[in-house]
Amino acid sequence: MTEEVQKLRVAVLMGGRSAEREVSLNTGQQVTRALETVGHDVVQIDSGAEGFIGELETTRPDVVFICLHGRFGEDGTVQGLLELLELPYVGSGVLASALAMDKVMSKHFFANEGLPTPAYVHVRRGAGFDIEDATHLLGPKTVVKPANEGSAIGVTIAHDPGELPAALEEAFRFDDSVLVERFISGVEVTVGVIGNEEPIALPTLEIVPEHEFYDYESKYVPGMSRHIIPARVGETIRAECERLALAAHHALGCRGMSRADLIVAEGGRVELLEVNTIPGMTSTSLLPDAARAAGIEFPELCDRLVRLALEPAGSRSGAGSGR
Ligand SMILES: Nc1ncnc2c1ncn2[C@@H]1O[C@H](COP(=O)(O)OP(=O)(O)O)[C@@H](O)[C@H]1O
Ligand SMILES: [Mg+2]
Repeated sequence: MTEEVQKLRVAVLMGGRSAEREVSLNTGQQVTRALETVGHDVVQIDSGAEGFIGELETTRPDVVFICLHGRFGEDGTVQGLLELLELPYVGSGVLASALAMDKVMSKHFFANEGLPTPAYVHVRRGAGFDIEDATHLLGPKTVVKPANEGSAIGVTIAHDPGELPAALEEAFRFDDSVLVERFISGVEVTVGVIGNEEPIALPTLEIVPEHEFYDYESKYVPGMSRHIIPARVGETIRAECERLALAAHHALGCRGMSRADLIVAEGGRVELLEVNTIPGMTSTSLLPDAARAAGIEFPELCDRLVRLALEPAGSRSGAGSGR
């Protein structure tokens, strides 16, 4: 394999300023190691450090591998910067990144394509919120989350309406825009998607958290969750999960990779929670784990993503790009 590999200079952009800085540093280290294994020349750049833009300019990489999660990384801002610098980068463009980052915006696009997503109420800071109306619409058990965070930061399950005020307060610590969503009881799954013009869905992965839901600890502390591939939901439902992940990827105009989080409700109906445009990329993260089950080892996955970034862009930043 190594003989025919064209050696590229790859800048791994990591760290940053979001609440997910630590996760990002970990991702960045592992992606660096993987790309070096394949034979690329890797330069690590911390986007949380002063002067990182200058560093990008002087490095002039062939490709930038963005290993940043959350704000200022996954949300279109860094993508915009790289567009201005005319540097190719892994993953989705400006608009798709921004749309996927915002769970309310994503839901508008899902609804527009007829993709199922849990009922919700959008609450803006300072605006009124009627607990009774919300309970009437969503049922007594809800999930409260900031619109623009990741890693379950600021997410709380409100078991009954009495828990809503505290849950809202917690979510508003992180964002001015918050969703109160109907709680869907069922099996939690996630589906990775890779590719540009004709993306493929990776095998459906079931997540079994030790905690009540897939919270921050379940995501990052070893042993706090299990990954089961393929998910134990039956073949028809697995196919539906993969269809929805691909449809959500298209609906938001994603490119290169994405990972959709879904819940298979007790009756078998599948609901889309969100799309991550820069999913966790340590070798034991969800998307790499699913890729491995499909026969794509981590270094090959990273290499493939770099090569996808170099393919001519059809419509990098377009949502509903009409492909
Ligand atoms: N509507 C819901 N019903 C049940 N569980 C949910 C719901 N929304 C979120 N969760 C739980 O919270 C976790 C985080 O929510 P998610 O929407 O994926 O946001 P993020 O991963 O960006 O923080 C999910 O992985 C799931 O365990
Ligand atoms: Mg999620």
